[in-house]
Amino acid sequence: MTEMGKIIEAADELEAPVTIGAEAYISADYARDERDLLFRKTWLQAGRLEDLPEVGSFMTFDLLEDSILVVRTGADEVKAYWNVCPHRGRRLVDTPAGRRNARGRKMNFVCGFHGWTFNHAGACTYIQDKEHWQGQLDDENTALGPVQCDTWGGWVWINMDPKAGSLRDYLEPAASLLDPYQLQNMRYRWRKWVKFDCNWKVALEAFNETYHVPGTHPEFMAFGDFPGWAHNHGLHSNIGYDAPKDMEENSGKLRVGTGDDARISTAQMQNYTWAAANTNTTQTMVDVANALVDELPEGTPPAEVLGYWIQRSREIDAARGVVWPVVPSSHTAKAGTAWQIFPNFQIGHAVNNMLCYMARPVPGNPDQCYFEAAVFELYPEGGAPETDWEYTEAQDWPPVLQQDFANMAAVQQGMKSGGFRGTQPNPYRERAIPSLHMNLAKFMGTSAPHKLK
Ligand code: FES
Ligand SMILES: [Fe+2]
Repeated sequence: MTEMGKIIEAADELEAPVTIGAEAYISADYARDERDLLFRKTWLQAGRLEDLPEVGSFMTFDLLEDSILVVRTGADEVKAYWNVCPHRGRRLVDTPAGRRNARGRKMNFVCGFHGWTFNHAGACTYIQDKEHWQGQLDDENTALGPVQCDTWGGWVWINMDPKAGSLRDYLEPAASLLDPYQLQNMRYRWRKWVKFDCNWKVALEAFNETYHVPGTHPEFMAFGDFPGWAHNHGLHSNIGYDAPKDMEENSGKLRVGTGDDARISTAQMQNYTWAAANTNTTQTMVDVANALVDELPEGTPPAEVLGYWIQRSREIDAARGVVWPVVPSSHTAKAGTAWQIFPNFQIGHAVNNMLCYMARPVPGNPDQCYFEAAVFELYPEGGAPETDWEYTEAQDWPPVLQQDFANMAAVQQGMKSGGFRGTQPNPYRERAIPSLHMNLAKFMGTSAPHKLK
């Protein structure tokens, strides 16, 4: 069978048990090809619009050997350029040592080597001794190279392929299913990054399924069993929780605890989540959860506990100017709790908070990646905290995330074992993994998932 035939067959079999070879995770040749075949062809999330508050605000986005300079050029306009000086190839804006990216505000970008100067439109406005080029320098060969750039969900997205189609088309159906959550209104609460000893896919795949919760986060099992599903949607995939018919809203991220008394288990789960993960909820929701036992009678059914908890939190937030979007529970059931945006970004959405992960490869090394997590919530107008990317060693992250991190380097090592036969993801709960690899195979031309038997 041809490679494309195998890929198509794999797509048909996404719901069937498949196996994925280790090549995509450990091969140096595969990792080298990812730059040209994957990352220079796909739309990539390059930063948040709130990091570009004024005209002239800029940020850099680095991926492998490429650096992209993103600049706010107008109230509603952002542009992106290759971050390289057209004179002798010096990177135009340096990423300060130890920082994830550069960020600031400039009226002009002046190259540090010979002083060529560029305006926000990417045009070169100053060249020392320009006449020495005998009239051969023009607007085109002196301008910064443009990179496709668009916005959605409050993020800036770039695509290094000038022939790439539109961002919106690329993001569907994720964009339409996530639009009701108004993610553009969320602001950072905290953001951290770190270098890990695993491939970027291993890092992302530690977060794109709920199958690992009993094994990796056994503490959560005290609050209930939360079986999850995963669905493929073309390039992307999403995951969510199975919920009983009368509690569709419980398929979202704001879930009620189980057990004898949902008032108590919800409060326990919220306190643990807030203290040990510092994400997936808000202070308002924790406070209201802690009051459930006083405000609701013993024996209140879980669906009513959930409804009261969410409604009360919504009211308290609205009174301080934090208005949650209204998303019907039937929509929550479809949108799930997290979207894996191909190839390297995950959006874990809710109506009042959000947790996102991105992983980027490290040049020349399939066994390492840069991993980052950003936690967002809704704030009153002007009330969002000032944050920046904090490089944080694994042992200094919230404990629940450390539990996830503890698997990563061990998976990378294990996949290199001569005795490893390829991954065998759970066809129902870990379907996001075959979805990623089926799509990777379309770009990379190798390593498509195959039927397990
Ligand atoms: S390399 Fe930029 S001015 Fe010479
Ligand atoms: Fe986890």
